[in-house]
Amino acid sequence: MKVDKRYEKTLPLGELEAKPGQEAAVAALHEWVEDKCANVVLLGSVGCGKTHLAIAAGKEVALAGFYTEEEGWLASQRRHVCFVNVPSLLADLRAAISRGNEDTADRFAHLSKTCTRLILDDLGAERLTEYAAEMLYVLVDGVYRREASVLVTTNVPLKDIVESGAGRIISRLIERATLVKMTGSDLRLETFTRK
Ligand SMILES: Nc1ncnc2c1ncn2[C@@H]1O[C@H](COP(=O)(O)OP(=O)(O)O)[C@@H](O)[C@H]1O
Ligand SMILES: [Mg+2]
Repeated sequence: MKVDKRYEKTLPLGELEAKPGQEAAVAALHEWVEDKCANVVLLGSVGCGKTHLAIAAGKEVALAGFYTEEEGWLASQRRHVCFVNVPSLLADLRAAISRGNEDTADRFAHLSKTCTRLILDDLGAERLTEYAAEMLYVLVDGVYRREASVLVTTNVPLKDIVESGAGRIISRLIERATLVKMTGSDLRLETFTRK
């Protein structure tokens, strides 16, 4: 699981302290980590902590998958967490296409067969090209077929995501999803005004 530098210090979910407005999301993510629910969608405005919590949950899963006496490193392979920031993925796809890079489809097919937990951070209302929608669909569909679970964060209502061209993706996800609407205020703004 590779994440932006500014979230490297984010603690795994088990050690995280919830900020006001994050309690319901943290509770749902504990269930997600423990395999008690399938997919989770965190919906909330900018800065309420969606990415922070998603990374905390991903780290908790990855920790739980570390080496065990009985299973060795297999355990961690079975719990391969794939963290995808959707806007940067879309930018990467655009760059790959303009370079004529043909590995992209293979990379997605491989990920869709190997990751056991998929985190789609910041799935938005940005209009998807047909190719980008297809790549995301390959990923989500592969995960869905294996009954692996997905965590989505977004700041736009699902119907707006559907209209962006991601309808097939959303329909796969919501079949077994818990939707948590986060109500917290912008934590970045709070830190800024407190200084
Ligand atoms: N529970 C938490 N504990 C500590 N820092 C947090 C917590 N939740 C959010 N933050 C911090 O608040 C800021 C905004 O959170 P972020 O997850 O980036 O928001 P969003 O993805 O919803 O826009 C980030 O700097 C993040 O690290
Ligand atoms: Mg975010």
